[in-house]
Amino acid sequence: MSTASPALKIPFVKSPDVEESVHGSALAEYQRLSVQQTLNNKFVPVPILEARNIQDALIRERFEGQELAIADIGCGDGYHGEVFGPDARFYHGFEISSEMAQKSRERWQDIDGARVFEGDARSLLLPTNTYDIAWSLYFTSGNFRQEFEDINLYDDAYLDKNPAFIAIVNRFYEALKQGGKLFLTVYKDVPKTEAAQREFYQKTGQTVVTPLGSRFVATKEDFWSVRWTEESMLSNLRACGIEPGQVVFNDLNDVAWLVEVTK
Ligand SMILES: C[S@@+](CC[C@H](N)C(=O)[O-])C[C@H]1O[C@@H](n2cnc3c(N)ncnc32)[C@H](O)[C@@H]1O
Repeated sequence: MSTASPALKIPFVKSPDVEESVHGSALAEYQRLSVQQTLNNKFVPVPILEARNIQDALIRERFEGQELAIADIGCGDGYHGEVFGPDARFYHGFEISSEMAQKSRERWQDIDGARVFEGDARSLLLPTNTYDIAWSLYFTSGNFRQEFEDINLYDDAYLDKNPAFIAIVNRFYEALKQGGKLFLTVYKDVPKTEAAQREFYQKTGQTVVTPLGSRFVATKEDFWSVRWTEESMLSNLRACGIEPGQVVFNDLNDVAWLVEVTK
């Protein structure tokens, strides 16, 4: 049964750890057609599509029909809100792209407890002890980064302690209830994933600028997507106060994990 979303105010603020330029350029990045096309299954290489489908089957099996308070970080066009929103206590989508936010709004207009908060998830002031689940699905958290012109600045030290990822995960982890769950769908750092990513971005009309073997794939169009090892994930999570014993790496397939953190 859905009930109206509480009159919760969630302001986006200019927090000190978000540099000024990020708001404009990150926004422009996600408004691009080529980036929006990465949501269209028509362009998605087989192993990535398979991971997406297994991710959806897994979360539906575990949570569909339950009355939960859910935060969706980077909710895109609102697909998951449509599935989980009708039964949720409330479903909050957070989305930086106004076009995407609008798509979610339209899709959720008849779902009482579903709301979209438009802005950069890095700049949020969230209430604590609020959500049963916070999830960032379909590789979204691998896009979180500061914007550097020089891609060499995304070196091992950066990727093992990525300030943008840490800022967002920290906020949502704080906002979880005790016993709540954080889910992140991420790419495994193996050659098969890199090949699939490169094919994916090329198919959406982008030009890959990173050499083979980089830990992330970047395009001339400013898309950026990192792959993870268990160590790099745990090192970023540790910076959020999350210990390895709280983390489970659920295998989706050869190329992806659904990382599950229990608070
Ligand atoms: C790969 S898409 C996934 C969309 C959706 N979760 C799904 O599973 O279909 C990533 C989404 O996250 C949004 N996004 C990326 N960085 C964000 C940020 N810092 N704050 C809010 N939204 C962000 C993008 O605009 C995009 O819509």
